Amino acid sequence: MNLEEQIYVRKSCRKYLDDEIDMNVINDFMKSVRPLSSDLKYRYEIFEKSEVKIRTPWSAPYYLALFSEKKDLCKVNLGFVFQQLSLFLQSKGIGSCWVGLNSIKRKDPEFVIEIAFGKSNDMTRDISGFKRKSLADISDYADDRLKPAQLAPSAINMQPWYFKHTDDGFDVYQVKQNILKRPIVKKWNPIDVGIALAHLYVANEKTFEFYLKSSFDKMDGYIYVGGIKI
Ligand SMILES: Cc1cc2nc3c(=O)[nH]c(=O)nc-3n(C[C@H](O)[C@H](O)[C@H](O)COP(=O)(O)O)c2cc1C
Repeated sequence: MNLEEQIYVRKSCRKYLDDEIDMNVINDFMKSVRPLSSDLKYRYEIFEKSEVKIRTPWSAPYYLALFSEKKDLCKVNLGFVFQQLSLFLQSKGIGSCWVGLNSIKRKDPEFVIEIAFGKSNDMTRDISGFKRKSLADISDYADDRLKPAQLAPSAINMQPWYFKHTDDGFDVYQVKQNILKRPIVKKWNPIDVGIALAHLYVANEKTFEFYLKSSFDKMDGYIYVGGIKI
């Protein structure tokens, strides 16, 4: 199965086998991964389970720790880049799950988030198993071209993305959370939006473009992220 097909069958994997993985698979893929913009710096390190602080009731044999400089769009970029890797791993029989709860054992101001991963035989589902907002709820009007974004994973399944049609594509927004949810998910929401954009890129590899615009519609309750063509 290619990467696009993974979008429709993937699920966050929380049951792993202990099989060893050749990390060159990851390092090779990362040489060709597409960033949202080439001037956003990020890096990753691979850890074994014993080397990370696990706060989830489940664990995986391996963890990717993701780091990035602190600039606008850096978290969106992390979501964009590493969701491509997650779909690639899935296509190789390796399940994964973004983990906001965990952290690394040392202090590093650039540490952002981890992705758990490992071989698994419980990492797919039927399309009916996806619990998601409707296409009409994530855009100014329902548009099937947004299906890959609709199915994207997000922290506590908040799906904080919104797409407004423009003449040549969409303006992309991040939903502002209310005061109760804000402390919990605010820091993950830009990653979620990047993950949704990764799904749109993977489904429209030849035509996808992301760009920043100086003029866009400001919308109450939403943060503007950028424009896309798909
Ligand atoms: C940024 C981010 C952080 C997440 N953090 C956790 C976590 O700490 N623990 C966990 O079990 N799942 C975590 N998840 C997985 C989500 O709960 C999951 O993506 C969402 O419920 C949708 O389910 P699905 O991925 O199976 O489609 C996270 C997902 C994202 C994108």
